[in-house]
This record gives sequence, structure tokens and C-alpha cells, in this order.
Amino acid sequence: MPLCLLDHPLAAHFVTHLRDKTTKPATFRTLAYQLSLLLAIEATRDLPTIEKTVETPLESTPGRVLAQPLVVIPILRSGLGMMQPFLDLFPNVSVGYIGLERDHETARAHSYYCKLPPLAGSRVIVVDPMLATGGSAAQALSLVKAGGAVAPRLVCIVAAPEGVAEVEKTHPELTIHTAALDRALNARKYILPGLGDFGDRLYGT
Ligand code: URA
Repeated sequence: MPLCLLDHPLAAHFVTHLRDKTTKPATFRTLAYQLSLLLAIEATRDLPTIEKTVETPLESTPGRVLAQPLVVIPILRSGLGMMQPFLDLFPNVSVGYIGLERDHETARAHSYYCKLPPLAGSRVIVVDPMLATGGSAAQALSLVKAGGAVAPRLVCIVAAPEGVAEVEKTHPELTIHTAALDRALNARKYILPGLGDFGDRLYGT
């Protein structure tokens, strides 16, 4: 399974400020936007294009335009913090939602909402900022595959080796894009060094 680690000085800069516990929610949201923009560009690098001829003010010229519709599916609630760059870059994107809540005691994911647009024939990207145990991501990916997605991508901000291994086990064909691959999970299944609870830091809860 390909694991694509975003390699860009700006990505390292944004991740470091996201990790900083003194970063306030407003700045955290901006950093999450900026980093997700870089990730969105990386995760769509190989989108197919088709030839299209356009008229410039001077003459006709062949060009290329996107050939495949894009669907982005944030895992609620923290995935919402990565959505906006996809909407900005791809105005025609369709958005699905999967609500998976993590029990803080057992660290197990429980699905409370799933609304998906038609997925067959589209490039499908699931966004989940923190790939910790991998349980939520693997469950979300199973839901999107059951909905017709072929070879969906997973885009996250920080991944733990345990989460990568879990997704690899359940979805070996899948590509994961991440801005950081961290050391490990702690006993409460938080990523180390990580950045804490992404949703809490995003929304100041
Ligand atoms: N979810 C988070 O928001 N942070 C972690 O460290 C793990 C899961």
C-alpha cells in the first residue's frame, strides 16, 4: 500500500505550528486549511485529464481539463477542518459525510451518520486528519467501497504507524497521503507526539 508523506518545507512548518499547544483555534483552523490545501494538491496529482480545445483571445489552442468527477468525504467532525481547500480547488466537487464517533475509553468507532453521493466512476477521497488506531478510517473506507468507490484515497494530517498498519490490513490497495508519520499511540490511543484532539483544537471544545 503506498504511503505518500508530504515532503515540502511549508508542510513541515504548518505541522509544527499545529502541534504547538499554544496555537489557538483560529490559527489552528487556518493552519489546517493551509496544510490540507497542499495535501489536496498532492492527492489529486494523478487525476486523469482529457484534451479540450479553447479559443484564447488570439487563436484556438488545445488544452487539458479534468476527466473524472471528484468526491470528498470528511469523517465527522474533525474531517470538516480539511474540507474547504477541496471546495476551493474543485468547485464541482461532491461531498459526502460519514459520522464516526470515537469512544474515548475504548477508542472504538461508532457510526452515527452516513450520507454519500453516487461514487462509481469518481475519484473518492476520504479526509480524516488523525490516523490513530485506523479503526475509523478503515470503517469509513469500507462504507465508501460498499457505496461504489474504486480505489479511494485517504488523506490525513498526522498518521501513527498503528493506523497505517490497520488500514493496510483492511484495504491493501489503498493510497494514504499524510503530512506527518508519528512515533506511536499512547495508552489512550492518542498519537505521539501528535497534536492532541484535532476536533477539540479546531473548535475550541
Ligand atoms: N484523534 C485525535 O484527534 N488525536 C489523536 O491523537 C488521535 C485521534
